[in-house]
Amino acid sequence: MRAVAVLSLLCLVAASSCQSHDLDKLMVTVLVLGQTTYGDVVLYKVNAYKYGFPFFVRTSIIKYPERGKYNFAYIRAIHIKDNDYDGSGGYPSISAGGIGQRFVKVKLKSQRGGGLNFTVTIYGRYLFPF
Ligand SMILES: *[C@@H]1O[C@H](CO)[C@@H](O)[C@H](O)[C@H]1NC(C)=O
Repeated sequence: MRAVAVLSLLCLVAASSCQSHDLDKLMVTVLVLGQTTYGDVVLYKVNAYKYGFPFFVRTSIIKYPERGKYNFAYIRAIHIKDNDYDGSGGYPSISAGGIGQRFVKVKLKSQRGGGLNFTVTIYGRYLFPF
């Protein structure tokens, strides 16, 4: 898991968004941002699925907290798992907020003509962001 985190971090630094297909070669299908430690809890977990349309790129935006809700917890880690293991999966990225903040917007994008199936898990803690 530590190696995965480091890989993802490098990837983030390089491109600010991670393309899971590059990582597929390394058998990595989870994008891990941040680190969880004792006291962190799952704030939100959601599965995002969209089937593919020929020639189309499907996108899905995951917002935490959900519209109309308020979140008091600081986000410590975000795990984005691509459930398509065969390289047909999508491209996850963070388009707003993130680690150390109380909101995040995750953008999930499919390959052209492909579908997407991601599980996004957000970990955090109440009170302090450290
Ligand atoms: C998405 O992936 C999950 C985990 O592998 C699986 O259980 C689920 O059936 C998939 N969803 C669809 C609609 O294929």
